[in-house]
Amino acid sequence: MLAALLVAGTAAAQEAPVQAPFITTPPEVVARMLELARTGPEDFVIDLGSGDGRIVIRAAAAHGARGLGVDLDERLVAEATRNAERAGVAERVRFVAGDALRTDLGEATVVTAYLLPFLLEQLEPRLLAQLRPGSRVVTHAFALPGWLPEAVETVKLSQRHTGQGDTSKLFSYVVPAQARGTWRAPGGWQLVIWQDRQRIDVDASRGGQPVTLRLAQLRADRIRLEGAGFSFSGRVAPERIEGELSGAGELVFERAR
Ligand SMILES: C[S@@+](CC[C@H](N)C(=O)[O-])C[C@H]1O[C@@H](n2cnc3c(N)ncnc32)[C@H](O)[C@@H]1O
Repeated sequence: MLAALLVAGTAAAQEAPVQAPFITTPPEVVARMLELARTGPEDFVIDLGSGDGRIVIRAAAAHGARGLGVDLDERLVAEATRNAERAGVAERVRFVAGDALRTDLGEATVVTAYLLPFLLEQLEPRLLAQLRPGSRVVTHAFALPGWLPEAVETVKLSQRHTGQGDTSKLFSYVVPAQARGTWRAPGGWQLVIWQDRQRIDVDASRGGQPVTLRLAQLRADRIRLEGAGFSFSGRVAPERIEGELSGAGELVFERAR
């Protein structure tokens, strides 16, 4: 329903930053978004299209996080700043006027967004490129195109909402490490990994012989492979995958050039 309400105002946008109307996320949904992101005092939360600042303010007030809200609308940025002062969290959060599609996300460990699908589609590659593995992304109402969610939840609303009706849908994601490529380890092990966001497909071989896998899973920087009679559990870094091979101890793969 939100899409129908919002698209009319946005379809004509071309070069200029695209605007979407200000509709707030209900408080119980804000609370659940931050829980799904496992928000804590170590986190830096960025809300893209921050409206009156409620998500970032709650992240600071209820979870001890720091944060940044970005909105195209300067009046909303001023309102969010006042709300943060009233909530006593002004020292831990900041609101700036700007385009969500140009925001530097490097500091974030949690990103939240209640934005239309066409904006999420443009944001998605930036999230993947700029966020560190293990960072969480939670979207309200619309899914991130192409991403495999960790959880999809429907929250029953205590009051009917202009955009969402009686329920709100939430999507939570974990940013994956970049595991794509060819990796080799002592003992003649080779992994050829194809990757599309959180999904991986792995061709494993040992001494040139294919090794059949029944499971290949990537979550944040943790990779798990299981095949007939073996399992490997490791951590993906830019140039190495270090882990444990069942029954054989440590195994370190290096990225092949
Ligand atoms: C649906 S509201 C969500 C507000 C708040 N995040 C919440 O959940 O209550 C979307 C907000 O995004 C802002 N917005 C839309 N497009 C934007 C863009 N490209 N960059 C920054 N803000 C944008 C709008 O001004 C509006 O305040």
